[in-house]
Amino acid sequence: MKTVILLALVALSAYSVDGSHLVVGNVADRVVLAHHAKVEYNAIPFFKRVKSFFYSSPTNRPIRGIQALDTEHTKASINITAGGIGYPFVNLRMKSERGHGLSYDIGIYISPDFI
Ligand SMILES: *[C@@H]1O[C@H](CO)[C@@H](O)[C@H](O)[C@H]1NC(C)=O
Repeated sequence: MKTVILLALVALSAYSVDGSHLVVGNVADRVVLAHHAKVEYNAIPFFKRVKSFFYSSPTNRPIRGIQALDTEHTKASINITAGGIGYPFVNLRMKSERGHGLSYDIGIYISPDFI
């Protein structure tokens, strides 16, 4: 069990050094997945795609962790523009590389006490 957690942490730290991913808060230990979404937008030649993703807890529970993985491994960027850890909502802004699409796998985590 310890090894699994350690491997998960190693994997997560590897993700967080890559600029295309966003991993904040706790997404591995003592949290549960509250919401999972795949966000995909097609490429438009010569343009960057800028899109938002909004999550709001239907039961007003604070977010403990956010993981957004760039599944296409492009040079897209993603930022939190509102809410986030400790808030019951988060707004994410995603921007693709010029001429590329966007593809993010987003997980929102909350404490299990709140289930
Ligand atoms: C996120 O913030 C960085 C630094 O301010 C900026 O360079 C980048 O373009 C932003 N990305 C998005 C999707 O807003």
